[in-house]
Amino acid sequence: MAEKWTPSSWRQKPVKQVPVYPRPEAVAEVEARLQRYPPLVFAGEARRLKAVLADVANGHGFLLQGGDCAESFAEFHPNNIRDLFRVLLQMSVVLTYGAACPVVKVGRLAGQFAKPRSADNETIDGVTLPAYRGDSVNAMEFTPEARAADPERLAQSYFQSAATLNLLRAFAQGGYADLHKVHQWNLGFVADSPAGARYQDMANRLDETLAFMAACGLTSETTPQIRETDFFTSHEALLLNYEQAMTRVDSTTGDWYDTSAHMLWVGERTRDADGAHVEFLRGVGNPLGAKIGPNATPDDLLRLCDRLNPANEPGRLTIITRFGADAVERLLPPLVRAVKRAGRVVVWACDPMHGNTVKSTTGFKTRHFDRILAEVLGFFAVHKAEGTHAGGVHFELTGQDVTECVGGAQAITDELLGSRYHTHCDPRLNAKQALELAFLLAEMLKEERSKQRHRAVAGS
Ligand code: PEP
Ligand code: CO
Repeated sequence: MAEKWTPSSWRQKPVKQVPVYPRPEAVAEVEARLQRYPPLVFAGEARRLKAVLADVANGHGFLLQGGDCAESFAEFHPNNIRDLFRVLLQMSVVLTYGAACPVVKVGRLAGQFAKPRSADNETIDGVTLPAYRGDSVNAMEFTPEARAADPERLAQSYFQSAATLNLLRAFAQGGYADLHKVHQWNLGFVADSPAGARYQDMANRLDETLAFMAACGLTSETTPQIRETDFFTSHEALLLNYEQAMTRVDSTTGDWYDTSAHMLWVGERTRDADGAHVEFLRGVGNPLGAKIGPNATPDDLLRLCDRLNPANEPGRLTIITRFGADAVERLLPPLVRAVKRAGRVVVWACDPMHGNTVKSTTGFKTRHFDRILAEVLGFFAVHKAEGTHAGGVHFELTGQDVTECVGGAQAITDELLGSRYHTHCDPRLNAKQALELAFLLAEMLKEERSKQRHRAVAGS
């Protein structure tokens, strides 16, 4: 029998990645305030995401999850939110149209503020200060004042998340996401790139399809699926006091939901099955993700499945693997086989970012477009060989024209990285690189789907 869960039962377990606050009494005061604030999302929305992820787990559809490594207070601007939403829409339409595959869109935003760190402190020129842990904890500048953890930042994260979500809901439902606007999503710097030109071409063909559908009576007025889209939010559930404060009972079911986002994931550094983070997440009804790195054994993964999804509910758990391009084809098969043998239903997603981070010759933390692509290709190859569904991807990307990852058609070099390197944490794909990847992904998905069709015909 599992021990009794409460929103605070994680406090009895070993907990990692907790900031040290100079004034601990101020933390409880902010938590109490957060507890009285309105929920950011509704339980019914989280259930809807779980339902569409259940389809993905069963082989129908694809999860596209992406956004900043870390959102920041300084870059809080409607244009940044619009540009990220827009590139995710572009990628999604490329996948849906190119591979005839429904796409579940989940942003890494409206709450992605806290970062796990491998060391608690950072030393520069003999001065040691607490590490930067994301804008919901402290500030990046290397001064004692900036690096001191301040609980008021939790409240500021809440308000920024609320305003971000408000705009996202308007974009998703207020006409911006109407498929007739498919050309307009390509405006700006993206249009002027090989992927942008390819996109333009696809948009022209989509226009013809929409004209045909209109002739059949399917228009934006008659068909909400043309006029609006579903867009969900997610972040790493790292600061458990914040997540606890946002956790409420859903009045329609009596179940607990973490209302800070639709989907929450547990990071590679905090996914210990007996630790506080897993304890917290096991009790909320939201769909969950778990990041899985090179050290995870099949047993670790099965224990996580037991803890986070004891009822084996499809759509409840997404396994996000992040091994690195060189390791994916060696490390993924034993995990896929173990999960399959145990009869566990999960969504398999690939994070090709976190296992492929390197230092450039010019000193920047970067990622090579080719290595990112190679990990995705390896992920698809493994699932093809194992007969399982490559269910999704998890990218760090931005709608901005940054120079943080090298390569791609734009051929960003080590020397160019310094020109627009803006990230608050890890290097992100820019919108051109992201769109380029979407076209390559559409080809992989199309191939997977044509194999499935052949199997179905052969078997009928
Ligand atoms: C992240 O997603 O930014 C992250 C820290 O990932 P991981 O937990 O997989 O290292
Ligand atoms: Co990251």
